[in-house]
Amino acid sequence: MKYTTGLWGALILCVVLIAMLFWKIFSLNSQVRNLGAPNDGTLQESLKRVQAELASVKELAPGLGEYMTTIQLHAGKLWFAAKASNWELSQYELDELKETMEAAKALNAEKNGVKISNVLDSVLQTQVAQLAESIKRKSPAEFQKSYDDTLSACNGCHAEAGYKFIHIVRPSSPPVTNQSRLFMTKPVTKTLNMECWRSKSLNIRWKKLSNTQA
Ligand code: HEC
Repeated sequence: MKYTTGLWGALILCVVLIAMLFWKIFSLNSQVRNLGAPNDGTLQESLKRVQAELASVKELAPGLGEYMTTIQLHAGKLWFAAKASNWELSQYELDELKETMEAAKALNAEKNGVKISNVLDSVLQTQVAQLAESIKRKSPAEFQKSYDDTLSACNGCHAEAGYKFIHIVRPSSPPVTNQSRLFMTKPVTKTLNMECWRSKSLNIRWKKLSNTQA
C-alpha cells in the first residue's frame, strides 16, 4: 500500500514538473516572438541611420586630391628643411609625407586603370625609403638625388593615372613664410641691422633684424 502511494506521488510530481516545463517553454517562445517583432523594425531603422551617417562621413573625408595637396606641402617644406641642413625638421616633414601617403593609400583609389595604392606603396618602399636614408646620413648630395627620384615617381604616377598635366618640380621658394627658423640653421655673421644665415648646403640669406632684436 505504502509502495503504491509513493509511486502515485512520484507520478503526480512528474506530471506537475512536465506541465511546468511546457509552460516555461511556451512563455519563452512567446517572449522570443515578442522580442523579434519590434526589434526587426528598429534594427532596420538603425542600420539605415548608420548607412546615412557613413555616407556623410565619406563625403566629408578628404579625397585623393586633398591628400595630394598636403603631400605637396610637406614635400616643399622638406626641400627647404634639408637645404638648411635642419635634419630634425627634414625627418619630421618626411614622416608627415609618409603618413599622408599612407592615408591616401587607404582610399584604395583607381584612376585610369591604375591602382593608386599599389603605386604609392612601391614609391614609399623605394624612393621615399632612400630619402629617409639620406636624411639619416645627413647627406645633402644623397638627399638631392633621392628627392629628384621621388619627384620623378610622383610625376610618373600622375602621367600613368591620366594626370600628366600635374607636374611637380623642386620648389624655388619656401611654401610658407611664417615658420621661424625653418630654413636656416644659425646666423653666420651679423652687421648692424642684418643677420646672415647660411645653411650647410650653402644657401645664403640675409635677415633684417627688428629694432627690438638689434
Ligand atoms: C600612385 C600615384 C601617385 C603618386 C605616387 C603621386 N600622386 Fe599626386 N596625384 C595622383 C592622382 C591620381 C592625382 C589626381 C587626384 C584627384 O584629383 O582625384 C594627383 C594629384 C596631385 C596634385 C594636385 C592636387 C590638387 O588638387 O591641386 C598634386 C599637387 C600632387 N598630386 C602632388 C604629388 C606629389 C608631390 C607626389 C610625390 C611626393 C605625388 N603627387 C605622388 C597620383 C599620384
